[in-house]
Formats: sequence, C-alpha cells, structure tokens
Amino acid sequence: MAKWTAEEIPDLGGQVAVVTGANSGLGYETALELARHGAHVVMACRDEGRGTTAREQVRAQAPSASLELSLLDLADLTSVRKFAEAFLGERGRLDVLVNNAGVMALPERRLTAEGFEMQLGTNHLGHFALTGLLLPALLARPGARVVSVTSFAHKTGKIRFDDLQAERRYRKWRAYGQSKLANVLFTFELARRAQDADAPVVTAVAHPGFAATHLQDQTSFSGARVFAQSAAMGALPILFAATEPDVVGGEFFGPRGFMQQRGHPTRVKAARAARDPETARRLWAVSEELTGITYQLG
Ligand SMILES: NC(=O)c1ccc[n+]([C@@H]2O[C@H](COP(=O)([O-])OP(=O)(O)OC[C@H]3O[C@@H](n4cnc5c(N)ncnc54)[C@H](OP(=O)(O)O)[C@@H]3O)[C@@H](O)[C@H]2O)c1
Repeated sequence: MAKWTAEEIPDLGGQVAVVTGANSGLGYETALELARHGAHVVMACRDEGRGTTAREQVRAQAPSASLELSLLDLADLTSVRKFAEAFLGERGRLDVLVNNAGVMALPERRLTAEGFEMQLGTNHLGHFALTGLLLPALLARPGARVVSVTSFAHKTGKIRFDDLQAERRYRKWRAYGQSKLANVLFTFELARRAQDADAPVVTAVAHPGFAATHLQDQTSFSGARVFAQSAAMGALPILFAATEPDVVGGEFFGPRGFMQQRGHPTRVKAARAARDPETARRLWAVSEELTGITYQLG
C-alpha cells in the first residue's frame, strides 16, 4: 500500500455507508470520499444545522454525491435506537459503518442521557449500541465493514472496571484514553465473535495520527495546526479500512510516518492492553449490560 490515497478507493456504486460525526473533521472527509466514489452516504450527525451545512458542502465538492442527513446523538441511547429503527425500516442493508464521532478530554466530568461518563458513553458505548442495532443490516450484506476510529492515545488507556464512569476520580485524558482503548478492544472482540459465529462482517479499526480538526482546536496546544496533518490525510487510514478489498477482520490501520502521527496509511500494531482477550470479553459483557444491547451474530 505504498502511499495509498483516496484516488485508489474502488467504485462503491450500489453501496450504502453510515458515517457518525460526518459534519466535521475526519468524519466529513470520510463521508466526502465515500460519496465521491459512488456510495450512498448517510451522514449521522447530532445537530441538524451543522449536518445540513456539511451535506451542502459535500454536495458542492462532489455534485453527483448521493447523501442523506440523519440525526444521531450517541450520548443518548433513545436517539441511537431511533436512528437505527429508521435506518432498518428504510434501507435494511448496510455495507459500511464508520464509528467516527468522538469527544476528547472534556475539562469537567459530564454525563450522557443514561448517566455514562461522556467520553466512554459517546466514543464507545454509543457506538457499541449503534453497531449492535445495525447488525441485521450489516449481515444482510456479506463482507460489510465496521470501522471504528481510535487514537494513538489508546496506548495510554486502561479500562478501569472498578471506576469505569470516573465517579471516584475524573481525569480528562485518562477518560479519553480509556474510551479509545475501548474502541480497539471492541473491534478485536467483534472480529473474534464474528469469526466464531461464521458471520460475514469485517471489523477493522483505524487511527488518524495527528490531524487538524475541530477536536484539536478545542483542546490542544496552540501550535497544533502547524504540526498536524490535514483532516483529509487523517481520514486515509479510515477510508483504507472501509474500502480496500483485502482488509480482514481485526486489522488496525494508522499513518506510517514518524510516531504514526502523519503520513499515508499502513497496518499498525495495537498496544498490548488492546490485545488482551480477557479484558475485551469483560468490557463486552459490561457494555451489553449498560446499553441493554446484545449482538445476534449467528
Ligand atoms: N484529529 C485528531 O488528531 C484525532 C486523533 C486521534 C483520534 N481522533 C478521533 O477521530 C474522531 C473524529 O474526530 P475529529 O478529529 O474529526 O474531531 P471533530 O472535528 O471534533 O469531529 C467530531 C465529530 O463527532 C461528533 N460528535 C461528538 N459528540 C457526538 C455525539 N454525542 N453524537 C453524535 N456525534 C457526536 C461531532 O459533532 P458536532 O460537530 O455536533 O460536535 C463531530 O461531528 C474521534 O473519534 C477522535 O477521537 C482524532
């Protein structure tokens, strides 16, 4: 995959894709390229105004794009259920699900509608519920992809089963690291489960390195934009995972440059903690319990 670019995305005509957080940053670039290559893209956004503006921007950049805006707030499981019900009712099949939306390092401990810590709740539990609910549509398309977006920061993460919601102690980067580690554990566990059940769904994970987006604007040091690569470059590992024909379940993609912070996509290795099947199984069980969603893979 020498210097893979979005130009190498195959024709996606006839495919349906859902991208969460498609109105901004990496999600926007992912939606744009999937649509440019022929997929019908459902832009799953929490704010109607921002979503509509983004949809019009994609349309301006790719006039033939087939797009749809659908409201989804991952920090509210009622919204997740509503989104999934509408999708299943209207379409019934899904080729690519990109679990991209995320929040990072919120200064104060905040809670989702169900009372989950906001980063775990949005980045992991909301996507856990969404993927489980959309599974019938994914299974209706053999070879369908689920791509979750993690971070190099998953390497700093630890799943604190004794204080998962940071009730006793909240540290903003610790909560982010936990949620991004959860994204990788989720992917590997889903890949194992799919294999065991002989389910034809391909689950991969990708990280963008360091990319100039709204996320970094809010929280990083002031020089972030100077050091960061573009959002379009940051989206390449996600797009590779979502569209390259030879991707198999449980693969992980990131930029191939210095410290995986920039560059074209390549296969990368997850932190040891992310490769521990026991932690993954336990997190899965807790996630089922918290969201009330169980996966029907068989
Ligand atoms: N940029 C980087 O360098 C970097 C590095 C590592 C990992 N990542 C990961 O990349 C992903 C995308 O981030 P980004 O950098 O593109 O940041 P971004 O520009 O801030 O985009 C984040 C997106 O997530 C959406 N979102 C947040 N909370 C949501 C919720 N409750 N329900 C639905 N959507 C929600 C945002 O919607 P609103 O616009 O309405 O807020 C926005 O569309 C995240 O998972 C992040 O952890 C980014």
